[in-house]
Amino acid sequence: MSLQGKTILITGASAGIGRATAVQLAQQGAQIIALGRRQNALDALAVQFPAGQVRTMAGDLNDETFVQRIDALAPELDVFVNNAGVLRYAPILELTPEDCQWMFQTNVLASLRVTQGIARGMVGNKRGHIVFMSSIAAREVYRLASVYCATKHALSALARSLRLELQSHGIKVTEVAPGMVDTDIRTGSDHPDVIASVGTRKFKALTADEVAQAVVYALSAAPNCCPDLIELRPQGAA
Ligand SMILES: NC(=O)c1ccc[n+]([C@@H]2O[C@H](COP(=O)([O-])OP(=O)(O)OC[C@H]3O[C@@H](n4cnc5c(N)ncnc54)[C@H](OP(=O)(O)O)[C@@H]3O)[C@@H](O)[C@H]2O)c1
Repeated sequence: MSLQGKTILITGASAGIGRATAVQLAQQGAQIIALGRRQNALDALAVQFPAGQVRTMAGDLNDETFVQRIDALAPELDVFVNNAGVLRYAPILELTPEDCQWMFQTNVLASLRVTQGIARGMVGNKRGHIVFMSSIAAREVYRLASVYCATKHALSALARSLRLELQSHGIKVTEVAPGMVDTDIRTGSDHPDVIASVGTRKFKALTADEVAQAVVYALSAAPNCCPDLIELRPQGAA
C-alpha cells in the first residue's frame, strides 16, 4: 500500500524512534503531524521537507488542553503512531513514587487518552491504522527496569484490547516491540548499577532507523493484511 498523501500523526517525533519514523514516512510521501515538547527539535525535523509536508505541534501529552487539540485533528488522520515514552532504570527498591507516576502517566495513561480521541475519529471514518511502540519489555522483564516493563506490559494489553474492539470498524492496530535501541531514552538513568549493567551488554543496540523500517513495513501492508506484532531484537540479544 502506498503511503503517498496519507496523514500520519506521530507522538515523540522530536527525537529517537519517532523522529526516524517521521523522516522515513515523509520520504514515502506521507503528510506528517509531528508532536513533542521541544518546538526547536520539531522545527529541525520539519525544515528537511517541503513546506507544509511536516506540520508540528509542541506540547505535553499529560496536558489535557494539548490533548484536546490533538482530538480535533482526529477526523483527518489515516494513521496514528503512538510512540512517545519515558524510562528510568533503577533498582526496584530505589524507584521513587514520582518515578513510577511519571512512567505510568506518560507511557500508559497519556497514551491511552490520546489514542481514545484519535480512535473515535477513525471509527467515524470507518478506517485507520494505529501503531503502538511497545517494547520487548512488554513481554519480558529485566533487572533495573521493573516499572518501565510494567508500563509496557500495560500498553501492550491496551493495544491488543483496542484491536479486538476496533477491527470491526476497519481499523488496524499494530504493536512494534523493539529490544534495545540506541536513543537518548536512558539519559536520566545514571544509577551506578545501571551503568555497570549496560556496560556488560554483549550486543549492539538497534538503530532508530531500523525500528522505523518496521513501522513503514506495517503501514505498507495490503489492506487485508494486519501486522499485529513486530518484535525486533538486536543480533545476539535473544
Ligand atoms: N530506546 C529503546 O531502547 C526502546 C526500546 C523499545 C521501545 N522503546 C520505546 O520507543 C518509544 C520512543 O523512545 P525513544 O527511544 O525514541 O526515546 P527518546 O529518544 O527519548 O524520545 C522520546 C520521545 O518522546 C517524547 N516525549 C516524552 N515524554 C513526553 C511528554 N510528556 N509529552 C510529549 N512528548 C513526550 C519526547 O519528546 P520531547 O522530549 O520533545 O518532549 C521524544 O520525542 C518509547 O515509547 C520507548 O518506550 C524504546
